[in-house]
Amino acid sequence: MKTLHQKVVVITGAASGIGQALARAIAARGAVLALVDIDESGLQAISEELSKTGSTVSSHRADVSDRASMEQLPSAIVTAHGSIDVLINNAGVSVGAMFDDHSIEDAEWLLDINLKGLIYGCKFFLPYLKQSPEAHIVNLSSMFGFFSMPGQAMYSASKAGVRGFSEALWTELASTTVRVTTVHPGTIRSNVIRTSRMLDADAQAKASELQEKYGMPTDKAAEKIVRAVERKKLRVIVGADAHIAEFLKRIFPVSFQRFIGFFFR
Ligand SMILES: NC(=O)c1ccc[n+]([C@@H]2O[C@H](COP(=O)([O-])OP(=O)(O)OC[C@H]3O[C@@H](n4cnc5c(N)ncnc54)[C@H](O)[C@@H]3O)[C@@H](O)[C@H]2O)c1
Repeated sequence: MKTLHQKVVVITGAASGIGQALARAIAARGAVLALVDIDESGLQAISEELSKTGSTVSSHRADVSDRASMEQLPSAIVTAHGSIDVLINNAGVSVGAMFDDHSIEDAEWLLDINLKGLIYGCKFFLPYLKQSPEAHIVNLSSMFGFFSMPGQAMYSASKAGVRGFSEALWTELASTTVRVTTVHPGTIRSNVIRTSRMLDADAQAKASELQEKYGMPTDKAAEKIVRAVERKKLRVIVGADAHIAEFLKRIFPVSFQRFIGFFFR
């Protein structure tokens, strides 16, 4: 997609972090925005901010893991803006605990949002995207889509699932007007750790502190993602940590996982 100017762009998880930064970067390019989140006050804040700078924005309170809401969402957006050109499946959550220690409800909660919610988005928006002369789907995976992290088994499963699903979709849609980009961020400063389900409050505070200290700012990450859309890239790796992890996992598929285990212990 050469330009996002006047395109109708849907962003899930737009009330915070990467989604919020994407909304700002895409609004600055003159796109029309449909912002989606479960956090109503966060949605209102970003919608008001962008409206004040002259952008056309609608906000939609929806839970991506709720099939009925996701089925109704595209027609509500078409009613507001007339068409849909870009879908960014960004909403995501994390569970930080050993698999054996957290509940099956935590596992289901995460998979329902990170994987099933993203699949709902693709399924229910695709008929509308196919009507656009130039459309794009952006799916948020992670560097944990390349390798698996102890204490993040469900998150790693969901993000590897996003990569597998998105790359198949990219191939299936190659002869249509819909392109697909999978995004693999490393550590980005956002609220994802603060709002994650972690059993150990001290570990959560420490991880959040490290993310704040070493993470890439969200506006920088958003700019890289938007440029990948403009260049129709199959995938984009965001951050030095994600680039290094992808390289090491590709060159040393077994030893790298062993190293992660050694480091973790
Ligand atoms: N921050 C990182 O280091 C990092 C790294 C790799 C991948 N990611 C991925 O980037 C995406 C954005 O995360 P972030 O880091 O900006 O986190 P964030 O917590 O700052 O933002 C996530 C947003 O998703 C929304 N959300 C959560 N559950 C939802 C639901 N059921 N329906 C609708 N909206 C929902 C939240 O309200 C929030 O506004 C996620 O998919 C995350 O897994 C983040």
